[in-house]
Amino acid sequence: MTRARPVRTRWWTLLVALGLTAATLVAAPDAEARTRPVRQPVAVGSGGAVATVDPEASAIGLDVLARGGNAVDAAVASAAALGVTEPYSAGIGGGGFFVFYEAATGEVHTLDGRETAPAAMRVDSFAPGGSALPFAEAVTSGLSVGVPGTPATWEEALERWGTITMNRALAGSIQLARRGFEVDETFRSQTESNADRFADFPATRELFLPDGEAPAVGTRFRNPDLADTYRLIAREGADAITTGPVAEDIVETVQQPPVDPAADRVVRPGLMTTADLAAYEVVEREPTVSDYRGLEVYGMGPPSSGGTTVGEALNVLERFDLSAMDRTQALHHYLEASAIAFADRNRYVGDPASVDVPVEELLSDGFAAERACLVEPDAVLPRPVAPGSPDGSYTGCPDGGIPGGESPEGPSTTHLTTADRWGNVVSYTLTIESTGGSGIVVPGRGFLLNNELTDFSFTDTQGGDDPNLPGPGKRPRSSMSPTIVLRDGEPWLALGSPGGATIITTVLQTLVNRVDLGQDLPTALAAPRASQRNGTTQAEPGFETAELQALGHTFTPTAELGAAAAVELLGDGRFQAVAEPTRRGGGSARVVEED
Ligand code: GLY
Repeated sequence: MTRARPVRTRWWTLLVALGLTAATLVAAPDAEARTRPVRQPVAVGSGGAVATVDPEASAIGLDVLARGGNAVDAAVASAAALGVTEPYSAGIGGGGFFVFYEAATGEVHTLDGRETAPAAMRVDSFAPGGSALPFAEAVTSGLSVGVPGTPATWEEALERWGTITMNRALAGSIQLARRGFEVDETFRSQTESNADRFADFPATRELFLPDGEAPAVGTRFRNPDLADTYRLIAREGADAITTGPVAEDIVETVQQPPVDPAADRVVRPGLMTTADLAAYEVVEREPTVSDYRGLEVYGMGPPSSGGTTVGEALNVLERFDLSAMDRTQALHHYLEASAIAFADRNRYVGDPASVDVPVEELLSDGFAAERACLVEPDAVLPRPVAPGSPDGSYTGCPDGGIPGGESPEGPSTTHLTTADRWGNVVSYTLTIESTGGSGIVVPGRGFLLNNELTDFSFTDTQGGDDPNLPGPGKRPRSSMSPTIVLRDGEPWLALGSPGGATIITTVLQTLVNRVDLGQDLPTALAAPRASQRNGTTQAEPGFETAELQALGHTFTPTAELGAAAAVELLGDGRFQAVAEPTRRGGGSARVVEED
């Protein structure tokens, strides 16, 4: 399905070239209503759906759908808007994973737009002399900046499956970056918590700390430099970032981080060259797929661990009838399956270009059966659970092996889900890694560089077999889990979330809530969460812990886990779009024609 409706594409392109933007194209009365940003957790109706964490991003995606664009067009348009309004979570300085259900063929495609290590990266780049760099020092550094993949992902998605040009897809966001958006409490507090390091880089300080402090709630935040950079991408495509003056600026910023000479921060230079940028490629990969209680759950394969870890945990859970259990038992099984799947993730998943990831075996029923037999109804497995042996020979319940490790996780990253009237569905998670990425804005270009390479293991955590050590051109392991679920061969549910490695547990728990515990999608997504990643269990306020503690679980309180966005296809061309009701200040779910 390429280039459907080319006539509309040319018409839009012409108008945009004449300087007309999304908001001025059509004077229809409902156009104003749909481009109005609305913060609401649920919308039900027809004509197409979009769910994101941000009202402006959802409005821009909705407008594209309402004008006849498809789910891919809307996803790219919303993602570009998130680069404006959620610049600390995602943007053209980062990467992501794009999962697409193509109605015309019934196939699920995935694009790997993950950031890539420079060619000069070595196995010990984060552990010079054998000891790991302090994590905080790596976070705010040129060393942790991977070659960005987001503009190339947008280009590839539009060229392969979209119906509009990049020019049209970015039009709404160019206007948004120029006119600005209203600062909310989430943006203010994220700026505030980054203020110390932002202040050390003049370009970052000028953009995000006007008058020396975080912008106040209710003020307007404008980013004309980003609008100009988007205009370059609109005209030239991803080449505008990977070659030419912007590429040179990125490389200079990475190699000589523009830190204020008065700051006493140690900012390690990075290894990226213009050749690394020019060599960047989006990779189309096989999706992961697991059957779960008659559903087909499609996810992102390595270098993301999302698809294999969600899929393995579901396969373990399928051995038990959760719907017949009381709630405590069901949640106990969810936590145990998650710990087991994380043990295997840590041991076996890395960039498939560098390590042999046994995807098929990790997702096999035989392996799941072997792993499921570790689960006891009345006891908690000692943590860390050892990884299993996905070797095709499954006989019993082995123990022993190498313990898994936990990595630091923050609330970063963002997710969006779109669906259109033709039955296409997109589930797209994108990131710059930490909230605020590397903290380094490319001077004059309006965007933050990622610190994605901190997703590598700095030193071996797996007894000599860590699949996620750095290497030249390697992609660090991710936890991003954009997911599309088919029922009877048709798309039924699409979802994803931010949150580092907790992304996996947020997606898993939401699926368990929806499929096994009989919750409708808004309830499943809003429910208090717990995240078990083969170590301590984090729990949000409201997650019932008392009876689980009696079984032996222990919990660490955490304010928030994730900020999911989902769409359920209700049949008869209707959708239920669902965004977070409260986390990160609440998201925005929209449909073209509300019921
Ligand atoms: N940046 C979060 C992840 O890739 O999992």
